[in-house]
Amino acid sequence: MPPLWKPENWPSRLAELEARSGDLKEAPLRRDVRSLGTLLGDVLREQAGEDLYAKVEELRQSAIRRREAQAGSAIDEAETLMQSTVFKISGFSVEQAYQLGRAFGFYFELINLAETNHRKRRRLSSQLTGDTHSQRGTLRGTLSAMRRAGISAGAAMEWLGRICVVPVFTAHPTEVARRSVMFKRRRIADLLEQLDKIPISDEGLEQLQQQLTAEITALWQTDEVRSRKPTVYDEIQMGLDFYESSLFATLTPLYQEIADALASEYGMEIEIADLPLMLRFGSWIGGDRDGNPFVTPQITRDAIQLARAHLLGEYRRQIQLVIDLLTASTQQAPVSEALRNRLTEYIGRLNLTEEAVFGAQFEFESYRRILACILARLEKTLSADKVAEENSSLAALPAYGSAREFLADLDLVRSSLVEHRGLRLAQTLLDPLLLIARTFGFHLHTLDIRQHAKLQRAALDEAAAWSSEAAADGRLPAPLSAPSADVIETFRAVAEIKAQGTPETIRCCVISGATSVRDVVNVVWLARLAGVRVEAEGEDPGLMPVPLFESIEDLQNAPAVCRELWSGPEYQRLLASWEGHQEVMLGYSDSNKDGGMLTSTWEIFRAHRALHEVARECGVHLRLFHGRGGTVGRGGGPTHRAIFAQPFGAFEGEIRITEQGEVLNWKYSDVVLAERNLELMIAACLDALARPNALDPEGHRTGILLPEWEAAFNELSADSFAFYRESIIDDPEVLQYFEAATPVGELENAKIGSRPARRKGALDFSNLRAIPWVFGWTQSRLLVPGWFGVGYAIQRYVRKPEGLGILRLMMREFPLFIDLIRNVETALAKADLGIARLYAALVQDEEMRQRVFSKIEQEFNRTMEAVLLITGQGELLETNQVLARSIRLRNPYVDPMSLIQVDLLRRKRSGEDTDEVNRAIAGTINGIAAGLRNTG
Ligand code: PGA
Repeated sequence: MPPLWKPENWPSRLAELEARSGDLKEAPLRRDVRSLGTLLGDVLREQAGEDLYAKVEELRQSAIRRREAQAGSAIDEAETLMQSTVFKISGFSVEQAYQLGRAFGFYFELINLAETNHRKRRRLSSQLTGDTHSQRGTLRGTLSAMRRAGISAGAAMEWLGRICVVPVFTAHPTEVARRSVMFKRRRIADLLEQLDKIPISDEGLEQLQQQLTAEITALWQTDEVRSRKPTVYDEIQMGLDFYESSLFATLTPLYQEIADALASEYGMEIEIADLPLMLRFGSWIGGDRDGNPFVTPQITRDAIQLARAHLLGEYRRQIQLVIDLLTASTQQAPVSEALRNRLTEYIGRLNLTEEAVFGAQFEFESYRRILACILARLEKTLSADKVAEENSSLAALPAYGSAREFLADLDLVRSSLVEHRGLRLAQTLLDPLLLIARTFGFHLHTLDIRQHAKLQRAALDEAAAWSSEAAADGRLPAPLSAPSADVIETFRAVAEIKAQGTPETIRCCVISGATSVRDVVNVVWLARLAGVRVEAEGEDPGLMPVPLFESIEDLQNAPAVCRELWSGPEYQRLLASWEGHQEVMLGYSDSNKDGGMLTSTWEIFRAHRALHEVARECGVHLRLFHGRGGTVGRGGGPTHRAIFAQPFGAFEGEIRITEQGEVLNWKYSDVVLAERNLELMIAACLDALARPNALDPEGHRTGILLPEWEAAFNELSADSFAFYRESIIDDPEVLQYFEAATPVGELENAKIGSRPARRKGALDFSNLRAIPWVFGWTQSRLLVPGWFGVGYAIQRYVRKPEGLGILRLMMREFPLFIDLIRNVETALAKADLGIARLYAALVQDEEMRQRVFSKIEQEFNRTMEAVLLITGQGELLETNQVLARSIRLRNPYVDPMSLIQVDLLRRKRSGEDTDEVNRAIAGTINGIAAGLRNTG
C-alpha cells in the first residue's frame, strides 16, 4: 500500500496550498483527517481488538445516519436510530464503555490536531498568496484600512505605541489533558507538519507515517485521565511550558511581521528594535487563591522562583548561543570604547587582570568576554545558588540590580556592533534576545494575587478587633481564624517577594466579588498591615487593588463605585504614584450565570463605557481586564471580534485578557499559532483604537452605537434578564434538574484542576461556581448559558413595528450585537436536544423533568428561530462554513460518547458507584470536552 500521504504528483500539493477557496483548499485537511483515522483504526485493532474496532465503527455509522436523518427532517427515524444505539450501549460492560469512550476521544485528539495543522497551513498559504494584505485581523489588513482612511504613518505609529496587550494565563480548572499527553500531541503535530513539506521521498513519507503510528500507539497506551488531581505545581509547570514551546520564539517573527506590515503599507523602514513593545504576559497560576486552598503563600513564592528559573534557562541558552556565534575579533573589527570600558570595569571589580580571568579564552574577542560577564551577573541575579560554572572567577561579579541594567549591557554590545559594520550581526544575533529581555524583564510574567472580597473583609475585621482590644486587660489575643491568617500571610509573602529583588513581579491584587469602595480599600489596609508598599516607588510598581465586578448588579454599580474611589484624596495619592493608572476587571462567566448571555454581554459593554467616562472625569487611565473563559457561556468566542466590539471611544489601547487552561493549547502550542493569535489581538486593538471604518464615508461596522440601537439593546436586555431570572435562577427546580441531568457532580472525578470544583457551603446558585455551571450544561449538550433568554427577548422585540428591521441592521453594523449573535449561534450549533433528552431521563421526578426540559426546549427553539430570522440564514452557521464543517466532522464521534456517558451516569446513579465506572465517566468527560473543544 502506498503511503497515506503520498500525492498523485507534487505540483498538486502546491496547488492546494495556493488555493484560496473551495474543495482544493480543504483537501489537505480532509487527507489528514482521513489518514489519521485510518492509522487510528489500525492501532485500535491491534491494541484493543477487532471487536472494539467493530463497535466503534457501528456506533459511528449509526451516529452519522442519525445526523443525516435529522438533517433531512426524518425525526422519527433519527429517534429510532438513537434508541437502538442506546439499547446497544446498555449491554456493554463498563470496561467496554471505557474503551469505547477512549476510542472516540482519540478521534478528537487527532481531528483537533489535523485542524490545527490546517490553520497553520492556511497561515502559510495566505503569506504565499499575499492575502494578508486585505484581511482584517491581520496587521497588514488593519494598516491598509487605516492608510485608505487617510491615517498618516505618524498617527499609525502613535496608535501602535499605545497598544499593550497582556494575555494572562490562568489555571482555571478547565484543561483536561495531562502534560504528558500534551507533549505527545506536540510530537504528532510536528509530524503532521513535516508531512506537509514539498517534496518528500516515498521512504521519507513511509518513515513519517510509521513514526505517527508509533506516537498514536504510545498515546493509546498512556492514561489520558489523571489518576490524581494535578497539584498547583503541575499547573505552574503547564503554564511555563508555553513559553518554551512557543512564546520565546514567537516574539521575533511577530514583531518582524509588524515591521514588514509598516513597510508594505506605509513604506516605513523600521527595525524591530525600534518598535514599541506591544505585549506583556501575566499569570494567575500560583497567585489566584480564590476558592483554592492549595495556593499557599509558599506556592506563590515558588511560582515566582520557577518563572525566574525558566527565564534564566532561556537567557542562558540565548546568551550562550551568541557567545558561540559572535566571534568577531578586535583584530578584524574594533569594538566601541564604551564596551571596552565596561569590560575593564567588570574585570576591575574582580580585582584581577583580564589575563587572569580569561587566560587564552576568547583572546581579542571582546564581545564574547563581555557576554561571559553578562551571563555571570545574570545567573547571580536570577538564581540564588547557581553561578557561572564555566569560569568561576566571574562568579564574583555582582547580581544585576534590575532588568534595566541587564538591558543596558546588551544595548552596549548592540551599539558597538552597529558602529563597527555589524548591523546585520546585531539584527540576527542580538535583537531576538533584546526583544525577549525587554518583554520579560527578570520576571517573565506578572503574577496576580486574587482573593475573594468576603475573605479579605473578614480578615480585616478580625485584625481591627484585635487592635481595638489591644492588651488593655492583659488578655492574650485569640489566634486569627485560618482563612484570615492566610489572607494576611499572603500579603506578607508579597512584601517579602518584592523585597527580594523583583518588585515588578507582583503588581495587582484582584478582588473577586467586589461590590464597594470598601472592598478595594480593604486591600490597601491589609497590604500595608503586612508591610507591602502599595504606592509605586522607584522600580517597585506597588500593589494595585483591582476590583473584579462579577454580578449584573455589581457591573451596574461599578462606575459609581469607581467614581467614589477615585475621588477620595488619599486614593488619588496612590493613583498619582501609579501615574494615574487603574485596572478594573470585568467578569464574564459570573455575570452570565447571574443574568444570562444577553444581559451579561450588554451590561459588560455598558460598564465598560461608563467606567471610561468616569475615568476621563477623574483623570484616570483605565485599563480593563477581561475575565473570559474559553467557552461561549463564559465569555469565549473569537477574541479579535470581542476586542473590536468594545465601546467606541472607550478604549485607550491597553488590555488584559485571561487565557484559560482550555484554550492555551489551542492558541499557544506552537510558534505559528501563537504568532497568529497574538497578531490577531494586536491587530484588533489597533482596529478598535484607530477605527478606520468610522473615517470611511462608506464605512460599515464602525462601532458607533446609534440611539435606537441602544434603546433596542436596553429593551432586549431587560426582557431577557427578567425571563432568565424567572426561568432559571428563581426556579428551584432548575438547580435540581441540573444536579440530576448533568454530570456536574462528576467534575471532581475528572481531576481537571487543583482547585475544588465548588465553593464551600450549601448547593445554591451563589455557591455554584460558573465553571461547573457551564461545564454541566455543556457536557449534557444543552449549553444553556450560551443562549438562554436570547430567543425570548428577540421574539418579543420583533413583534414591534420596525423591530426586525432594527435588529437586522444591528446584525450587519453593530459589532457587539454581531459578536453576541454569532456566539449564541455557535452554542446552539453545538447543542443537541435529542441527546439532551437522554440526559433528562436521569431525572427521577418525571413531572419536574418534563416541566424544566420543555421550558428549555421551548426557549431553544425560539432562540434558534430568532437567530435565523435576524441573520437571514436558512440554517445555523450557513455563513461560517469552517465552524459548521468542524462541528459536522465531530458529531459522529461526540454523539456516541454522550450516549455512553448517559449510560454510565445511569449505572452510577443506580448504585454502581465503582472506581471503574468513575474512571469511565471521567474518560467520557475528557472526550466530550475535546470533541466540543470546550470543557465548560
Ligand atoms: P472564577 O472563574 O469562578 O474563578 O471566577 C470563572 C470562569 O473562569 O469562568
